[in-house]
Amino acid sequence: MKDKRPTWTSKYSFIITTIGSAVGLGNIWRFPYVMGQNGGAIFLAVYILIISTICFIPLINELYIGKLTKKECIGAYESINKNFKYLGALNPITGLLIASFYFIVGGWIINYIIKSFINYKIQNYEEYFTEFIKNPIYPCILTILFLFICIFFTARGLKKGIETANKSFMPLLAVILIFLVIVSLNLPNAHLGLEYMFKPDFTKLNSHMVLNALGQAFFTLSIGMGALLTYGSYIKEDKTLVKSVYTIILSDTIFAILAGIMIFPAVFSFNMEPNSGAGLVFVTLPKIFSQIQYGNIVSGAFFILLFCAAITSGISILEGPCASLIEKFNISRTKACFILFLFISIIAIPATLSFGILENIQFFHKSIFDFLDFLTSNIMLPVNTLFLCLISGWYLKIRGDILIKNKIGAFLFNIGLKYIVPISLILLIIIGLH
Ligand code: TRP
Repeated sequence: MKDKRPTWTSKYSFIITTIGSAVGLGNIWRFPYVMGQNGGAIFLAVYILIISTICFIPLINELYIGKLTKKECIGAYESINKNFKYLGALNPITGLLIASFYFIVGGWIINYIIKSFINYKIQNYEEYFTEFIKNPIYPCILTILFLFICIFFTARGLKKGIETANKSFMPLLAVILIFLVIVSLNLPNAHLGLEYMFKPDFTKLNSHMVLNALGQAFFTLSIGMGALLTYGSYIKEDKTLVKSVYTIILSDTIFAILAGIMIFPAVFSFNMEPNSGAGLVFVTLPKIFSQIQYGNIVSGAFFILLFCAAITSGISILEGPCASLIEKFNISRTKACFILFLFISIIAIPATLSFGILENIQFFHKSIFDFLDFLTSNIMLPVNTLFLCLISGWYLKIRGDILIKNKIGAFLFNIGLKYIVPISLILLIIIGLH
């Protein structure tokens, strides 16, 4: 039985759900640590420049192709040219692979929420985190639980599930984030963190950092796996896609900057290292929470915030593959969700175990988890975006004036779509392979 193709209830629903997709672990977990490792303020400056210019083009392009074709990824590519359907199929496949590692981190978040409320004091935070992720059972159960929660909303459909989740979790996320920013700014020596974020050190500017900023910007905007294409295909009529896209970029950037303002003053206030990498959120911050007044409440709030961010993005990761299953195989949403649940579990469980009992299984000298992250973030996402930009710019010959009223803007869009974005993506892929 085929479900009727859904559409957004309102423009607001579309925008908040797309912002929900964009604002995720990429903003609150990844952005601060990538910024920490790339020199702070100067990274932020480059990042803002890139996200407001270069990223605008693939973002609007993906939404526009969805809106134009009114189909899920495979059908959308196929309607442009029959032979493109295989390129289209790469999108939901990328989605399944991203889901398999993204949801593992979702499981860790659930653990830290529980931990915040039960047993707050931990002796050694590094050891606790490494022991926890090595455990063969608990993280697997939590990953499946997180997957189940996301699937639950997806299975309820666009209006009752996806829109409802975003309309509830996104405002909650904003409120908690503002609360935590205030807490952080009131810590002693908070200004050191702000200086680190906003006072650029130009000696740290280098090409590698620029590419890191580009990669981060693509990831955080959810470009490259058809999530946006699918969301775009549910738009009824929207003459002002440009405005919506700027609202999405602006909101995503504000969330990322606020996440930085929440994290760095706290890190500097407690004399910790801002460049500790992926452990920043799961090791450094819990250490800080244990030293502040009402630390367990702050810790609980922080991990609930992370949970809200991860859920709305997780839902968007599932929607692309889900829509493809529904429309290509003519099955109901519930059945599609059941298949996704099984499929993602089959990849996610070995990936979860790759921190412990399966750590010796390696692909290209990487554990299963690291390999999935590398393959999707460094290769598949930029490759998918590259194909879609080439199809739009060179095959469909989409021109800026269809989307942008202003002449100069339309001209810059054309150059960007045909040359600048593809070249940047090729560089990103080449550097990513090293
Ligand atoms: N943008 C999300 C984040 O910042 C992650 C995400 C959701 C994503 N959907 C995506 C990344 C699609 C790439 C493609 O956490």
